[in-house]
Amino acid sequence: MVTKIGLDLGYANITLSDTAAGIYREPSVALMDKNTSRILSLGTEATEKASEGGVLVRPFKNGLLYSKEMTGAVIGNAINAVLPAEKLRATLGLPSSILPRQEKELYEMMLDSGVAECYGVHRAMAALIGAGYSPSLCAISVNVGASATEIMVLHNGSILLENTAQIGGEDFDRAVKSYISDQGDVSVSLSVAAAIKERLGAVWQGKPSESIDIEGTLSLTGNRVTMNLTTEDVVGVFEKPLSRLLLEIADIVKKIPLDYVKDIFENGIVLTGGGALLFGLDRMIERILEIPVVLPADPMDSVAKGLSRINNFLPARMRGQSKDITAQLAKLYEARKENAK
Ligand SMILES: Nc1ncnc2c1ncn2[C@@H]1O[C@H](COP(=O)(O)OP(=O)(O)O)[C@@H](O)[C@H]1O
Ligand SMILES: [Mg+2]
Repeated sequence: MVTKIGLDLGYANITLSDTAAGIYREPSVALMDKNTSRILSLGTEATEKASEGGVLVRPFKNGLLYSKEMTGAVIGNAINAVLPAEKLRATLGLPSSILPRQEKELYEMMLDSGVAECYGVHRAMAALIGAGYSPSLCAISVNVGASATEIMVLHNGSILLENTAQIGGEDFDRAVKSYISDQGDVSVSLSVAAAIKERLGAVWQGKPSESIDIEGTLSLTGNRVTMNLTTEDVVGVFEKPLSRLLLEIADIVKKIPLDYVKDIFENGIVLTGGGALLFGLDRMIERILEIPVVLPADPMDSVAKGLSRINNFLPARMRGQSKDITAQLAKLYEARKENAK
């Protein structure tokens, strides 16, 4: 028996998808002892114990690995969550900007974590497949993660353009944080800012109004204070990161050769990643860039889901392993009926 898993190693979350067991997600963090650099705890437990001391480290920043030990531990922690099987075959989500050396290290860590076979796929491609498309389509994939956005333009399965844009959900969190600090000299953590964005944030009208109490620190005295915030308060906060994100997408779109524009604009943009959940982002992109935007159900799971679907249509015997198979996917997908035999 071979268990086939898809693993999306994001800056914020590590998401594992197994067609039988479903989706499993953990924050991709490790809690490290400041003095000894020893790993104290991992994932959800690490975020819960962070207030007791230690530093929280996110090992996956655009493929830049913090340390081999820490990255390996975070990967191992997630893999151990799936039932042990005789043999694990994994497909791994990669940022398109990953350097060959970092990619090689990632595969080595996967093998060290007990995976028997491992293949890499660019996140933007996996996201399309997870959203229910075939890899041989014409479309623009935009995957908005916490630290970066992966953009890919496909024409009949060939990759025309690709970029990792250095803008993501955390830039929107920073906008919330600085708004609160400007308003009342109150400082909140980035994770509180993220929670405010997720509950109240919107870049388009029509979000039902809500209000929440948040805790922060008065900058002058250091005293803890509680503030009340409403949906209306944070309207307009996202102008800067939003326009950067729109510019990054537009930058790629304007490079599409004219002959391909019609085909590609027909399907338009498939918007995925946790950042796609920001209220109204799909409509805003559609309005400003004048390209149809599709927001699939559960956009945060698209990459991991796509990776496990890919793993299931790869042939039982692949030529070579520990390599990037993004460019071959359309061909492998067309051949899948043969593989299923
Ligand atoms: N409801 C929401 N509204 C806006 N942003 C959200 C929402 N839910 C999650 N996010 C954002 O999605 C990002 C995490 O998405 P994810 O795809 O898991 O990132 P990564 O792949 O970088 O780990 C975070 O910035 C988080 O704040
Ligand atoms: Mg992601």
